[in-house]
Amino acid sequence: MKEKQNNTPVPYQEIANPITDKTVKQNTNQLREKARHGRLDFWSEMSKNISWFEEWNTILDDSKAPFYRWFNDGKLNASFNCVDRHISGWRKNKAAIIFEGDRGDRRVLTYQDLYREVNQFADVLKKLGTKRGDVVTIYMPMLPEAVIAMLACARIGAPHSVVFGGFSPGALKDRIEDSNSKVLITADGGYRKGKVVPLKDNVDKALEGSNCQSIKNVVVVNRTGQDIHMEQDRDLWYSDLINDAALYCEPEVMDAEDPLFILYSSGTTGKPKGILHTTGGYMVGVHTTFKHIFDYQEQDVYWCTADIGWITGHSYIVYGPLANGATTVLFEGTPDFPAQNRFWSIIEKYGVSIFYTAPTAIRMFMRWGEEWLAGHDLSSLRILGSVGEPINPEVWMWYYKYIGGEKCPVMDTWWQTETGMILITPLPGDASFKPGSASRAFPGVDVDVVDEQGKPVKPGEQGYLVVNTPYPAMLRNLYKDPERYLSTYWQQYEGIYLAGDGAKKDEDGSIWCIGRIDDVINVSGHRLGTAEIESALVEHPAVAEAAVIGKKHELKGQAVSAFVTLKESHNGSDELVAELKKLVVSKIGALARPEDIYFTAELPKTRSGKIIRRLLRDIAEGKVIGDTTTLMDPDIINSIKDKYAAKAS
Ligand code: WT7
Repeated sequence: MKEKQNNTPVPYQEIANPITDKTVKQNTNQLREKARHGRLDFWSEMSKNISWFEEWNTILDDSKAPFYRWFNDGKLNASFNCVDRHISGWRKNKAAIIFEGDRGDRRVLTYQDLYREVNQFADVLKKLGTKRGDVVTIYMPMLPEAVIAMLACARIGAPHSVVFGGFSPGALKDRIEDSNSKVLITADGGYRKGKVVPLKDNVDKALEGSNCQSIKNVVVVNRTGQDIHMEQDRDLWYSDLINDAALYCEPEVMDAEDPLFILYSSGTTGKPKGILHTTGGYMVGVHTTFKHIFDYQEQDVYWCTADIGWITGHSYIVYGPLANGATTVLFEGTPDFPAQNRFWSIIEKYGVSIFYTAPTAIRMFMRWGEEWLAGHDLSSLRILGSVGEPINPEVWMWYYKYIGGEKCPVMDTWWQTETGMILITPLPGDASFKPGSASRAFPGVDVDVVDEQGKPVKPGEQGYLVVNTPYPAMLRNLYKDPERYLSTYWQQYEGIYLAGDGAKKDEDGSIWCIGRIDDVINVSGHRLGTAEIESALVEHPAVAEAAVIGKKHELKGQAVSAFVTLKESHNGSDELVAELKKLVVSKIGALARPEDIYFTAELPKTRSGKIIRRLLRDIAEGKVIGDTTTLMDPDIINSIKDKYAAKAS
């Protein structure tokens, strides 16, 4: 099956559910049935599955919509839900985290272990002066201490802001400054493909000079033992602090609407958005979705391959699984080290039964070939998941056939940093699955595809993906920027959330998510703002203007392509291309590195001066040029196209 142009749903073969267990079917049907009786009753019932110190009074307060409040007056603590409530019975000896390091080292933390260290580190944070409401920045490799740090923050009511360890010092600095953190938690480094990677160096660069005045202490986890600079009075070793910590730290009694974390995500302007999630609704949302979408059972071993620096890691490595008392695998390494069968050996070794990964990874496995699966017993797998970008039907089929052995249904889950929890997905007990379609809204969630006027589109027509009603785990605001919250999500349609994705519905109401409709691109399931990359490029003295687009890429989904106009007296060269790529990496991080850079005399613009990225995308993808009537100077496009063709050949 080949994907058609314009992302029209491809002809697919519906796959009958391979699960024969009747209880799975019943659970799915029951859940869908419950939600049919009323969305609020549904969430009210779901809220009973987490632990509250005090019950809530009002389920949904929409008096200040779209600043919604869920579970008003309810009191709880997220870390209590993830650790304390599991240690009173036999689960205290159950593995909470199975950590596998890049070089094959392993550490297993039982719920008791995790409980203990979360308490200790919470005490450490308090002793460092962290108060309820203070934002703590976490910049870490995939280590158990990263999870411990998140839960310790939650325990003392300090919202965490996790910054992906692959981000550059500049990106880290911006995020620290915006959140005004006093404490930063990091590691001396990590391992990648057997080699030591520095991390503390990035921290030092980010905090250099007069930058980031807010940071008073940096807590450093010793992972690699490499030589690092420790700034006197500022930098402290994690292990020293833990050794002096109290074994117990009382969890703060948090209000349901107290912030749990901020997570920065790219938007359509250069400045990343601090997406704010609160405690009660988020915990109910991720607990419920994790349990039902993956048919989670007590004996499962669950592995999500995301990084904790993204929302997938927050919701489906940390909070969702741990709130359910699950065993969650935490992997530091990469899929191709020491060889391309690393994932399959991990699944086999730990008996992973639920596996959640991204289409970009699956496409890579397809390219490497089925031979890497040979000799690996993957029969422990029961449920597969996909997240981050549309999964092409042929990739779905490969995943189903080769990884799942045609016995595991694939949950294609659509959601966003903003939504906090999965919103569109099939359920494990559904009768059948459509490869390439994320299926329909999770029970208790109301999504639709609408036209410019907000009218639901007809089957097969493309429209905008919207969420009609609030749901517990939704973002509450953008950190310190309520205006942007309103203008980004709530301005287009009255009272309706605009997701920023294009989508279609088919005759059965199944939803086909197509991709972003704004200036956000999706590289290997990671979200990047074109504006951020453009600002990095124009910092170069030779660059006058830059336009960045996401061009279709076989493995990554999209790749970054940049069109650059140079200042007079500067000429394009291979050296300049290399310099510009390096600049972007140093400003943002490796995942933003442009795949290609084209020098052009001018950029196509509308009469009002807006760059028409759609046209650049068409050129980069070698498609027929779209409508150019709004162009200021239609000839520009031909000259760009000629240049591009010359470069590309
Ligand atoms: C954007 C959100 C939520 C986890 C990771 C990304 C795209 C996500 C799917 C899917 C098609 C998807 C959307 C969305 N996306 N999942 N199953 N099918 N597209 O989080 O960085 O906030 O990005 O990822 O375009 O808007 P994020």
